[in-house]
Amino acid sequence: MRKPLIAGNWKMIGTRATNQALLEAILDQRYLFKGVDVALFPPAVYLQQVQTALQGTELHWGTQNLSQFESGAYTGEISAAMCRDFGSKYVLMGHSERRCLYAELNLDQHFLDHIIAEKYEMALRFGLTPIVCIGESPEEHALGQTEEVVIRLLDTIIAHQGADSLQHAVLAYEPVWAIGTGKTATPEWAQEVHSVMRKRIASHNPEVARNVQILYGGSVKGNNAGPLFAKPDVDGGLIGGSSRDADDFVKICQAAR
Ligand code: G3P
Repeated sequence: MRKPLIAGNWKMIGTRATNQALLEAILDQRYLFKGVDVALFPPAVYLQQVQTALQGTELHWGTQNLSQFESGAYTGEISAAMCRDFGSKYVLMGHSERRCLYAELNLDQHFLDHIIAEKYEMALRFGLTPIVCIGESPEEHALGQTEEVVIRLLDTIIAHQGADSLQHAVLAYEPVWAIGTGKTATPEWAQEVHSVMRKRIASHNPEVARNVQILYGGSVKGNNAGPLFAKPDVDGGLIGGSSRDADDFVKICQAAR
């Protein structure tokens, strides 16, 4: 049975003061979402603050990205070892905002997929759990290319590290057209895409496919999370905007019970 997971992606938002208030408000209400795994992803400069607040509790934390390189002259990058240094359990990778907002889109998509597969390998090597973000752009959605896009990155990761490696990873379907737009995917759409992903994995290893958590991300709110999480192949959510609103984030965590 897959445990539900709610991941809060704080993106580039927060201050030490607002982070502390948010952390305390979530911790004060964590009795409301017992049985749900929760992980918070602050900007890296606040990792120690989150570690200090959450260590010793059942909540987890992680980073929003990591380098595909182990160590060296890579200004501004964060290594897997550094993520571990601050007690991270998870690490996000392949988020669309890193693809498009950082001009990575001008790289060939297949080349970018290989970079993500290298990040995935590095995360596993250092005992981190990668949360691999996969999702189609508005243009790809309009052209009916959703399945092609999600399968392309999934196949790249499987070719690179094998389907068995997914037992140590989490996947997140994040349609770009739903991120930050208020245009949440319907539960039926999310279920359909998650099912495609799970079936692809099952074609390699049915047991891993049964057990891998697949999260949905894209305008998840306290008032729409329930029907999404009720779908059989939706194992929780990757939350952006609402992860910075303690009450709404707790509502989302409750909806995953
Ligand atoms: O990583 C989660 C994020 O991309 C979703 O953002 O604001 O639509 O919940 P949001």
